[in-house]
Amino acid sequence: MKKTIIANWKMDPTSAREARQLFAQIKNKVRKLRGVETVIAPPFVYLPLFRPTSHFKLGAQDVSFASEGAWTGEISAKMLLDLKVSYVLVGHSERRELGETHNSVHQKLAAALSKGLRAVLCVGEKERSREAFPALVREEVKSALKGVPRRFAARALIAYEPVWAISSHSGGRADTSQNFFEMSIFIRRLVLDIWGKSAALKLPILYGGSVNSKNAAGFLGVKSSGGLLVGQASLNPGEFSKILEAASR
Ligand code: PGA
Repeated sequence: MKKTIIANWKMDPTSAREARQLFAQIKNKVRKLRGVETVIAPPFVYLPLFRPTSHFKLGAQDVSFASEGAWTGEISAKMLLDLKVSYVLVGHSERRELGETHNSVHQKLAAALSKGLRAVLCVGEKERSREAFPALVREEVKSALKGVPRRFAARALIAYEPVWAISSHSGGRADTSQNFFEMSIFIRRLVLDIWGKSAALKLPILYGGSVNSKNAAGFLGVKSSGGLLVGQASLNPGEFSKILEAASR
């Protein structure tokens, strides 16, 4: 399976000029790679600066549940499609911290998938858990997917991102590839209950949380790993290039 590597730039870089520079450096690298789906997810306002090519796709970091109308500050799936965006992150933990609920994540996921975007549902427990399989991940997957028609499943991806492993989290350190393996089986099982076996087997499950050039290969090597969601390291062209190389092997 082709690995999907998503660069989540979050609210960086701080100017359009720097965004163009960063993009130009990554673009050179991406041109030479095979077997990788590279997705750049910059802040909304930089999306019009970039045109996707056969070598990389554009992603957004959020999307509205609504399709039009009086929703101040919201950006619809159709607006993103107009800007040639094909991927969108839904329910990233940093947005959940700002008040996003299970229900709003579900509505956004349904809106994005039904309009034709590829949606990356982000799930992950807040604390390192002693439980074999954390209740929060179960709740996040079930509440987001329930009621979303199976015919949209082919456009869905799930990113397992334990919140405690995200680099911006105090003391954030990457998870182990063994835990990612176990969690990906757990998540696939939950998806199977909702969308059935065929969709569950095909669903790409990505790892995110302090990915860097040293640990990328370990997570990519996990059986049935769908790829990586990369934050901090995606702002460093050297680091990000090495991660892409690891995925293209
Ligand atoms: P990180 O962020 O790679 O900086 O830990 C990942 C994410 O939050 O998507």
